[in-house]
Amino acid sequence: MKYRIRICTGVACKNCGSDDLLKEAQRLAIGKQHLNIEGRNCMGCCDDAPNMIVMDEEGMPLSRHTMVLPKDLQKIMENLQP
Ligand code: FES
Repeated sequence: MKYRIRICTGVACKNCGSDDLLKEAQRLAIGKQHLNIEGRNCMGCCDDAPNMIVMDEEGMPLSRHTMVLPKDLQKIMENLQP
């Protein structure tokens, strides 16, 4: 299975560290063909920043994650197996 990991890069999420999350996600995805990392604009849930969504390859949401910390990101990504 392939996954699309969408990390919000809107202003509220940026102010809560989403740039670092995006870089870390890109680093963790190196060599993992089943993980595709995307940065996207505001997801409309700024109060829970920083936000990310895990989708299948068709774009169907599988899980939503709020107030994501780098250590959370690592755990979320480790659980996404091909
Ligand atoms: S800026 Fe990220 S949800 Fe609005």
